[in-house]
Amino acid sequence: QDRINVAIDGPAGAGKSTVARMVASRLSYIYVDTGAMYRAVTWYMLREGIGPDDHELVRQTMRNLVIELVPGAEGQQVYINSEDVTPHIRSLQVSSQVSQYAKLEPVRTRLSQLQREMALGRGVVMDGRDIGTTVLPDAEVKIFMTASVEERALRRFKELGGKEQISLEQLENDIAKRDRLDESREISPLRRAEDSFLLDTTSMDIGQVVEAIVSRCRAYV
Ligand code: C5P
Repeated sequence: QDRINVAIDGPAGAGKSTVARMVASRLSYIYVDTGAMYRAVTWYMLREGIGPDDHELVRQTMRNLVIELVPGAEGQQVYINSEDVTPHIRSLQVSSQVSQYAKLEPVRTRLSQLQREMALGRGVVMDGRDIGTTVLPDAEVKIFMTASVEERALRRFKELGGKEQISLEQLENDIAKRDRLDESREISPLRRAEDSFLLDTTSMDIGQVVEAIVSRCRAYV
């Protein structure tokens, strides 16, 4: 049987990465976390002191950056210029700034190109915001995963497990703000592809969500 590509999009904290990783493992496919790529670029720009308004410097920097995704024991690792940046990319600082860099054309063009290359051989489960609409419009299975903002904030809160000083209410605000920025940007905004399957996971557990997606893939593989 031929391999297919699976695109999973949706707002922040919907549980896309956990689910996408499990779907990939069930199908023996490769999992690509595109959010990690935007986060890694953001972390690098912040460290180098390159602001999102310095368009020329952002453009130059994107031209020279070497970005690699490596499947690791604890999920996927991201390397920037051969440096493992994985431990830094989930910080609140990166989370609060990432949308400002993700809206920039040189950032999106470069990362989408890398993402398309990774999916050329098919057999990829890719999660993000614009996978079904822009990166892999020909993916056989497209899922738009969502959940209420309260539920998404609660999931993130549990995931952080007290590691960061942040209240549930603040998390909810941060998530809602990031969604607004991602939905309103000019280039490939967060939007449900018309031919995607809408999966509201508010009252589903992870196992049910994975099953729903895998069963749609079984129609092809
Ligand atoms: O998926 P995650 O929450 O890690 O994504 C972090 C941010 O990266 C998003 O809020 C969005 O600004 C950006 N992103 C994007 N396009 C993607 C994946 C992520 O713009 N395909």
